[in-house]
Amino acid sequence: MRDEANRVGIFDTTLRDGEQSPGISLNKQEKLEIAHQLARLGVDVIEAGFPVTSPGDFGAVQAIAREVEGPVICGLARTAKQDIDAAWNAVQDSERPRIHTFIATSDIHIERKLQTTREDVKGQVRAAVAHAKQYTDDVEFSPEDGSRSDVDFMAEVIQIALDEGAITINVPDTVGYTMPHEYKATFEELYRLVPGLHDVVVSVHCHNDLGLAVANSFAGLQAGCRQVECAVNGIGERAGNASLEELVMLLHTRESSVGLWTGANTREIARTSRLVSRLTGYTVQPNKAIVGRNAFAHEAGIHQDGVLKDRTTYEIMDATTIGLDTNSIVLGKHSGRHALRKALEELGFEVEGAALNQAFKRFKEIADKKKRVTALDLEAIVSDEMQQSPAAYDLESFEVEASSSRGPLARVRVRLPGGGVGEGSFTGDGPVDAFFSAINAAVGHEARLKEYHVSAVTGGRDALGEVTVLLELDGRMASGVGVSTDILEASGKSYLRAISNALAESAAAEAEHHLSRAETERTPTP
Ligand code: KIV
Ligand code: ZN
Repeated sequence: MRDEANRVGIFDTTLRDGEQSPGISLNKQEKLEIAHQLARLGVDVIEAGFPVTSPGDFGAVQAIAREVEGPVICGLARTAKQDIDAAWNAVQDSERPRIHTFIATSDIHIERKLQTTREDVKGQVRAAVAHAKQYTDDVEFSPEDGSRSDVDFMAEVIQIALDEGAITINVPDTVGYTMPHEYKATFEELYRLVPGLHDVVVSVHCHNDLGLAVANSFAGLQAGCRQVECAVNGIGERAGNASLEELVMLLHTRESSVGLWTGANTREIARTSRLVSRLTGYTVQPNKAIVGRNAFAHEAGIHQDGVLKDRTTYEIMDATTIGLDTNSIVLGKHSGRHALRKALEELGFEVEGAALNQAFKRFKEIADKKKRVTALDLEAIVSDEMQQSPAAYDLESFEVEASSSRGPLARVRVRLPGGGVGEGSFTGDGPVDAFFSAINAAVGHEARLKEYHVSAVTGGRDALGEVTVLLELDGRMASGVGVSTDILEASGKSYLRAISNALAESAAAEAEHHLSRAETERTPTP
């Protein structure tokens, strides 16, 4: 029998800390899809965003709060009243809303960043938690840069948060500086200095700057913490956050030694990882623990021989536990709309009406070229369609000429967001270079390619190709992903999506700038 006291709550921050990674820009539809998948994965809390930062973020958090059932839906807020009001307005329609408020407690942050005093920080925490508490009982407080804070001062601040009613206290290693034994000792000291911590949930939140995010999180759990903040594929600020799949599988695989467990459905891990990777444009490194494509591959002959005789000679986990190789869906060119809808439903996608018609059209195009359309193909098509937006550029047609005797030439026609078509033609160093330069000419922007990755969705010569690009436009990094049986078409789509994402981000930043200027002008100076 599992002991409830040893259950570790999974607080997923893919859509908040994860989305803060450079180049990631998820639209509302994409965030909703990820949130639905996180609910299927069985996370306990979804930190859906930082609502005060932009109307786009606010709208996405609100949509998730309204639609996604199961997990607590949380909005992040600094201690300012308008942050807390925005967080509450965004999450209030959830069945289980949470406000997460934070302020830095390290001297370096207080003096240099906030340019204030410890006393002021204490006052802000008191006011913020009390204000949030008027809206909901579920208030979480984080002393930012906790691992570099003076522990006595941090304890005082945490006591204030508890006095005002916070029911979760999260101590972040914001800059990924701590080490497992140090982080564990910090919690032991905090439990000693603030006995009230034994009556609430204490949480870990670790960044991966020194590659210790998972180890540090685990050390915190061993000190008594029962919530872990993490992100799918370990995405997040700088080197990222602790990886959700590593933590879940660590506790799952070593449960008999560690005694801690989570409510996550491990069989949804692989699918969640693929979805997040596709929609964020952050590819997963091949040797990444749990979800890298080599995580269950055996190269050395001795290993292969051992695994064939007994899988457990070299495998500590079974690939099916994380949902690899479990899906039997196979459709062919004679499969109809009904079969497609059923298959999509089985994969967790509820696709109806115009979206189903579009998915069916894409499916037929692919089934004409590929004998077997598998679950992996369907996932790729649906994620690809999800990225299609009327406010974005779209590839209408292209021609690329390449030969060994003369330089490549590309011609493109691009549908513009406001209507109309842009045309461009260009030569280049290679066909892809010429294609991207022609797109720049068609849309009138000088985007610069930074990274270009091609991969196959499944094995086989007729596999769908998936292209991920990272580009820079006017100083802003943005990524895009495109899927097609034609690798050039996938390249064009991914490039146009990245340009559209960069422009959307610039527009959002501009709107945010105007908003905060208007706010400053309205606020009377004391
Ligand atoms: O890393 C950090 O300190 C954070 C807080 C906002 C919790 O992300
Ligand atoms: Zn963080």
